[in-house]
Amino acid sequence: MTDKLGLPVGTTLDRFIMRKQEDFPYATGELSQLLRDIALAAKIVNREINRAGLLDVTGAYGQQNVQGEDQQKLDVIANIRFIRALRNGGEVCTIISEEEDEAIQTGNTKGKYIVAIDPLDGSSNIDVNVSIGTIFSIYRRVSEQGSDGTMDDCLQTGTKQVGAGYIIYGSSTMLVYTTGNGVNGFTYDMTLGEFFLSHPNIFTPATGKIYSVNEGSYNSFPEGVKQYVNYCRDNEYSARYIGSLVGDFHRNLMKGGIYIYPSTAKAPNGKLRLMYECNALAFIVEQAGGKATNGSQRIMDMVPTALHQRCPLFIGSPEMVDKAEEFLKAEVEVN
Ligand code: AHG
Ligand code: MN
Ligand code: MN
Repeated sequence: MTDKLGLPVGTTLDRFIMRKQEDFPYATGELSQLLRDIALAAKIVNREINRAGLLDVTGAYGQQNVQGEDQQKLDVIANIRFIRALRNGGEVCTIISEEEDEAIQTGNTKGKYIVAIDPLDGSSNIDVNVSIGTIFSIYRRVSEQGSDGTMDDCLQTGTKQVGAGYIIYGSSTMLVYTTGNGVNGFTYDMTLGEFFLSHPNIFTPATGKIYSVNEGSYNSFPEGVKQYVNYCRDNEYSARYIGSLVGDFHRNLMKGGIYIYPSTAKAPNGKLRLMYECNALAFIVEQAGGKATNGSQRIMDMVPTALHQRCPLFIGSPEMVDKAEEFLKAEVEVN
């Protein structure tokens, strides 16, 4: 098995990134370096996650440990690690993070790139040893180099992404990413400290039998979503919902399925964030032959207006997303 360039399974991530870069005659290597910075932070975060129980770093942020030091929750630690790696790397001028209200200026005013990141996704699963993840999107700045990134740099539509990926800290740790020419997955060998190409050229099945939605909120789903869920039940699809978007997405990407986070009474725009959850996964799923919409509009066409904006998400196997949209549309037409 090889990727599109003929690189075999077992190729290290570093070598893979280098070979990809050679294919772009004008590439300067900065995006490659940025991806390596992310991979380095991922290894560090993976280490923190693996020994979380031992180091007593779980628990609520703000508590103190036995030495009287402030304890930090893993999502805060992950945020620090990724920001540090991106700042030290030098290619990124501005970072949008779920953990920070404002955009972070790294001080690298010559940096060409903007990164939007969910440093640790699946927070409710952090303390209970269930898969969690990191999600990232990369954009090229639109403003001139030489100063901080601007709001225009930050609020670009998903179609402008030059790269996107996620890390899943699961039964094994994987990094899956795209730079717009297919999707490749790398598995981490912690004894060697390296990511190796394990899933070249990922394609998602056109349809599947898994639906992932928090059915506890069923009563407050829009009518069309209720009907689609009923359709899944009637057809005896499997309900699978971890509550870690990365975990649920990754499983469905590999096996075929649909993940839905609709608007609910509690969360009228859904819960997930456009800039560092939905867009990144939308880019990946499309590159893998799948689809991502907010119920009526392609996620990557949505024009962002705020850094932490939320949107409903219907993502996964293309035929399943189409089917869900049919139910939503029929409901709109009735009303
Ligand atoms: P985060 O931990 O980054 O805040 O994201 C949590 C998200 C996502 O991972 C998951 O799919 C969703 O919250 C689960 O929400 P519900 O508990 O409302 O289903
Ligand atoms: Mn998240
Ligand atoms: Mn998070």
